[in-house]
Amino acid sequence: MEYRNIVLVGMMGTGKSSVGQALASRLNWVYEDTDAATERAQGMSITRMFAELGEPFFRKAESETIERTLQGRHQVVATGGGAVLAEQNRILMQRSGLVVALKASAETIIERVRSDQSRPLLQGGVEERVRHIMESRKHAYDFADLHVETDGKSVGQIVDEICSRLE
Ligand code: S3P
Repeated sequence: MEYRNIVLVGMMGTGKSSVGQALASRLNWVYEDTDAATERAQGMSITRMFAELGEPFFRKAESETIERTLQGRHQVVATGGGAVLAEQNRILMQRSGLVVALKASAETIIERVRSDQSRPLLQGGVEERVRHIMESRKHAYDFADLHVETDGKSVGQIVDEICSRLE
């Protein structure tokens, strides 16, 4: 089956960026990252957007990025963990191609994001924040077409798994 785009969704730290880049090069498609594209469009980091303009500003800018990016084709698009919270974004993702949700345990996520200072939502206690966000988004990724468990798997194995489901 031929998809227009593949959209990766999931909690922060589930490996959307690494898997997205590897999947794009496997398919010979373009890789896009909505966090990076939003930073480019606004000319400032996500950390600064949250700090100076607030989360609602970031969410609006993120939705604009998603709308613009998903108009393209043959792209693997890694999205920010909270991009699925807006219904309009979910609709655009579903219309644009295959939506793949990456999953990981809280322990794996905590390990992966611990040393990264660039995520404003994790300020003030990574473990507690990750567990809280996971709980509040328990069903946020259910709308995806495909769910892939990433715990204990290499990026290559995850890409193989996604590719095997494309045929
Ligand atoms: C967020 C996840 C981040 C980024 C922003 C908010 C979230 O992206 O969009 O810090 O709400 O989960 P990653 O999932 O790429 O870390």
